[in-house]
Amino acid sequence: MGSLDNRVAIVTGGAMGIGGASARKLAADGARVLIADVNLPAAAENAARIRAGGGTAEVMEVDVARTEQISGMIERAVELWGRLDFLVNNAWSSNGPDGSALTLSEAAWDHAMSSVLKSIFLGARYAAPYMEKQGGGAIVSISSVHGLLVAPGKMAYEVNKAGVIALTRQMATDLGPLGIRVNAICPGHIITERMQERFWDHNPTLRPFFEAQYPIRRTGRPDDIANAVRFLCSEEASFITGVALPVDGGLTIQFQEDLGLSLARLVRAHPEIALPEER
Ligand SMILES: NC(=O)c1ccc[n+]([C@@H]2O[C@H](COP(=O)([O-])OP(=O)(O)OC[C@H]3O[C@@H](n4cnc5c(N)ncnc54)[C@H](O)[C@@H]3O)[C@@H](O)[C@H]2O)c1
Repeated sequence: MGSLDNRVAIVTGGAMGIGGASARKLAADGARVLIADVNLPAAAENAARIRAGGGTAEVMEVDVARTEQISGMIERAVELWGRLDFLVNNAWSSNGPDGSALTLSEAAWDHAMSSVLKSIFLGARYAAPYMEKQGGGAIVSISSVHGLLVAPGKMAYEVNKAGVIALTRQMATDLGPLGIRVNAICPGHIITERMQERFWDHNPTLRPFFEAQYPIRRTGRPDDIANAVRFLCSEEASFITGVALPVDGGLTIQFQEDLGLSLARLVRAHPEIALPEER
């Protein structure tokens, strides 16, 4: 028996990475999980993995950037299992390179705002009536340390992730009286399957440079975030709403001048570290 037995969850972008691990974690604790993802074969693979472990999962092809698909996603979970307890907004959908106010295209800005903020807002709109009817529910959105701090030339991502935090607070205030808790998680660098393949396999020398930036001296794993998702959905978090929880190994608590100096010393001591090209 898991603590989430009989509960129903939707995880957007639940095929792999942080969403994949979150879907598995919720299912391992007893929840029935609808994996909503653009990548149907990968979603099916994750669902099969969940079922092989004794859990319950179904898949649905959903592109959160096509916000007209959001109501159908909510309806599908209710149609399958008669209720909806948790909505995990994890998918990030980008349609091209980011940029600054001088270089970001209007189309890329509109796409980012719509596919993240609008899809989360609409998810809450369609999910909340079901959650209210059954006595409550929880919405958890994946923001980022990039929602707390900004990096140069990443305007759409940073503004979006900060927007997720603002939306979380607003919806926690508005939906709290209906019994719905709304929280966000701000992950640090998480080595997902895709991140490993696209980034770390090509530049392993940079790994110690990244790890040195974390007080606990490691980067994150998908399960680090999945654990926080499970906790924020559970009854153990029944008095927690409206928070943006950093799950970042302490990355964002540090004084930046000291961090900069310690990294400069690390690179001087290890000239083999191949830094990425300047943007
Ligand atoms: N990995 C990190 O270091 C990190 C750090 C901070 C925040 N995040 C956030 O965590 C979330 C998940 O990131 P990840 O690294 O696990 O990503 P990932 O690329 O490993 O997985 C993303 C999943 O979302 C799906 N997806 C992409 N676009 C979609 C769309 N339009 N509609 C539905 N599904 C879609 C993909 O098919 C994939 O299954 C994102 O919101 C990201 O911004 C990641």
